Amino acid sequence: MDVFEAIKKRRSIRAFEKDAVSPECVNRLVDAARWAPSAGNIQPWEFVVVRRRETKRKLAEASGGQSFVEEAPVVIVVCADENRSSQGYGVRGRALYCIQDTAAAIQNINLAACSQGLGTCWVGAFDEGDAKEILKIPEGIRPVAIIPVGYPAESPSPRRTRPLNQIVHSEIF
Ligand SMILES: Cc1cc2nc3c(=O)[nH]c(=O)nc-3n(C[C@H](O)[C@H](O)[C@H](O)COP(=O)(O)O)c2cc1C
Repeated sequence: MDVFEAIKKRRSIRAFEKDAVSPECVNRLVDAARWAPSAGNIQPWEFVVVRRRETKRKLAEASGGQSFVEEAPVVIVVCADENRSSQGYGVRGRALYCIQDTAAAIQNINLAACSQGLGTCWVGAFDEGDAKEILKIPEGIRPVAIIPVGYPAESPSPRRTRPLNQIVHSEIF
């Protein structure tokens, strides 16, 4: 699939078929993530792949009851290593670059999944402390997104996208 096609076709998927997602498929998604750009090529990302029902249930609970997190066959939790980024870039690395780097990796996962016929949703509304405890994430590593992955059981209609002429400024803002 052409990159523009994937960018435009991708939608958040919150309902999944029961079909399993193979470890090879998941590896391809994480492989796509690690090719994202990162400040100073620090690559501050870490990934936790979750298949156990009980763990997914707890993550759904930590996400304020977003039950599709539990229903997805597999969930990838994308984390940012704040220490790696701050070693390179101090406060800006910790507060900004590690989140930007990780966000780029997250979107690579979303686009790679779409190109393979898989659905994902970027879940950012969750209790970080709870997620850290559930997944035994060490200090200095911040969970940034929970990404449920599975074969789509819904096809959302096209969404409203702000038109170019409202968002592009020529020369000055
Ligand atoms: C940082 C971020 C956090 C998000 N958190 C959630 C979330 O907690 N739950 C959810 O259902 N969708 C979440 N979304 C998905 C957005 O709702 C979705 O991307 C937006 O409505 C546009 O729809 P689309 O992804 O289908 O294009 C999040 C997206 C981003 C980028």
